[in-house]
Amino acid sequence: MTKKILILPGDGIGPEIITQAEKILSFFIVKGDLAVELDCGLIGGNAIDETGLPLPEETLKKAKEATAILMGSVGGPKWESIDRPLRPERGLLAIRAELGLFANLRPAFLFPQLAKASTLNEEVVSGLDIMIIRELTGGIYFGNPRGIRKLDDGQREGFNTLVYNENEIKRIAKVAFETASKRQGRLCSVDKANVLEATELWREVVSEVAKDFPEVELQHMYIDNASMQLVRAPKQFDVILTTNMFGDILSDLASMLTGSIGMLPSASLAGDGKGMYEPAHGSAPDIAGQNIANPLATILSLSMLLRYSLREEKFANMLEQAVSQVLTEGLRTKDIHSDGMTYVGTDEMGEAVIKTLSTLLD
Ligand code: IPM
Ligand code: MG
Repeated sequence: MTKKILILPGDGIGPEIITQAEKILSFFIVKGDLAVELDCGLIGGNAIDETGLPLPEETLKKAKEATAILMGSVGGPKWESIDRPLRPERGLLAIRAELGLFANLRPAFLFPQLAKASTLNEEVVSGLDIMIIRELTGGIYFGNPRGIRKLDDGQREGFNTLVYNENEIKRIAKVAFETASKRQGRLCSVDKANVLEATELWREVVSEVAKDFPEVELQHMYIDNASMQLVRAPKQFDVILTTNMFGDILSDLASMLTGSIGMLPSASLAGDGKGMYEPAHGSAPDIAGQNIANPLATILSLSMLLRYSLREEKFANMLEQAVSQVLTEGLRTKDIHSDGMTYVGTDEMGEAVIKTLSTLLD
């Protein structure tokens, strides 16, 4: 059966960064004989405009049939005031939940060429290579009850529920231990077990799963300390395992260690091998349509797609090598630009990666 890739450009800078990844995919299909079929669909704000829903039935159907999904980003001020359950972000949360994409892998890897682009000292970040594993379909993002209600005294009260059951913790912990055993063998599980019962259980279950992975060294850390350590001495970390909300925050934090959030890819994986791949950054409506967004997080997400869902290790490596090479050549989008480097737009960056790929394929 032909493998299918569903492309969901989304909103804001989504379409322009996805275009670059799509051009690279087409390049692999035409020049590298990669056997995949491409299709595209609507999600987020543009889907609301067209169909009234952030995740239309048709998109969900295509997503269920696809081997993998490549997504841009969703959301923007235009849709901020509509009913909460119909907002763009709910489309993203719904597709994650519907496809069971519980494991979110966010590698914070510093290309040596960008060591000076980080706001942190070069010695603190050079050689940085962290894998953040974020639980993606549970926790406070999905817990019920949730909402905003009116109290008897007339004031409003907002409420959410942080809930994790043992099975949810076990399956994400397994992914984290397996990942750590293929890397440096060190896993740091991040929680707030001193205050929150849901993460007290998290800590207990992670320690139980650890017994099956004696080769991995497990450490537990509170979220406040972990945030501080990530900025103080980030290279102490190999794999970080954490909850949905803590992972959301820590991955943005870690992205700045790598120079820019525009460099951070992600893979959201289900137990059955299906995956959705998206940059960790948002839709950045303030810079949309100006050809200044960094497409590399999306391009690196495509490389994760090639590796994890298509098992095309050769193309994945080649793509990462091409990204590294354009950085070595000094090409920089606005977010990572510094003196002496060559400023390029979104399009030019995509084209440069393709040009390098053609030389690598020969
Ligand atoms: C992310 C984003 C999303 C999240 C938003 C857009 C719902 O911030 O993927 O990190 O919070 O998961
Ligand atoms: Mg986020």
